[in-house]
Amino acid sequence: MKETWKPGNMLYPLPAVLVTSRNAAGQDDICTVAWAGTVCTNPPMVSISLRPSRLTYGYISETGVFVINLATEALARAADFCGVRSGRDLDKFVACRLTKEEAEEVSCPMVAESPVNIECRVTEKRPLGSHTMFVAEVVSVHADPRYLDGDGKFRFERARPVVYSHGSYRGLGEELGTFGFSVRKKAGGKISPKTGQKPPKPGTVKPGLSSNKQGNPRRGERKRRDMTES
Ligand SMILES: Cc1cc2nc3c(=O)[nH]c(=O)nc-3n(C[C@H](O)[C@H](O)[C@H](O)COP(=O)(O)O)c2cc1C
Repeated sequence: MKETWKPGNMLYPLPAVLVTSRNAAGQDDICTVAWAGTVCTNPPMVSISLRPSRLTYGYISETGVFVINLATEALARAADFCGVRSGRDLDKFVACRLTKEEAEEVSCPMVAESPVNIECRVTEKRPLGSHTMFVAEVVSVHADPRYLDGDGKFRFERARPVVYSHGSYRGLGEELGTFGFSVRKKAGGKISPKTGQKPPKPGTVKPGLSSNKQGNPRRGERKRRDMTES
């Protein structure tokens, strides 16, 4: 039986990205962000949410632009460092030995070692509470050609991307299927949309756990735990 907890953020895993920014005086910074996501296909738009205490928050507020640099396993240490040290105290490009590249559409640095750099221009700044969400339009994307396959498709798994889940950095596991695999027909039987498997032969199913139909006993003590702060 599941426990019911107080409201909290439990949408995992998350991307852990390196957000680069520049202030009006031309100083650059890198900040790790997990509260980041795609919010629109056309026009391509993303959002990041920052606490106003971050140096990056001030930089982006001044110039209205930033770059999302995707992190890889090779960049995991830098991603952690850029998430626990502030640009107020040191130059994180220098400390992490990351190569600075100039973005093309916006005045902002990018991380050369990242396989994908997404140039963004802020369209909306919305205070939500602890964090302020910056909604931004993607104005250019740079992809490392080493991760393109013969058809020109970007194979991000080859760059070994990093995800952030419950306080841990992790690589991607095995591929479980490709888009639409749940409805794609295979020779020899219909695929179940629930399991992605062919149905079992009659008489081979083991009895499972019985469902609890007596009210909702989970409404007891509501706990908050395992919620990672960002
Ligand atoms: C994995 C990870 C994810 C983080 N995600 C966020 C986030 O989404 N928003 C935020 O405001 N801070 C986030 N942080 C904290 C900032 O990266 C951290 O405070 C950083 O030192 C700010 O740097 P700055 O002051 O140079 O901007 C995260 C830290 C880590 C390690």
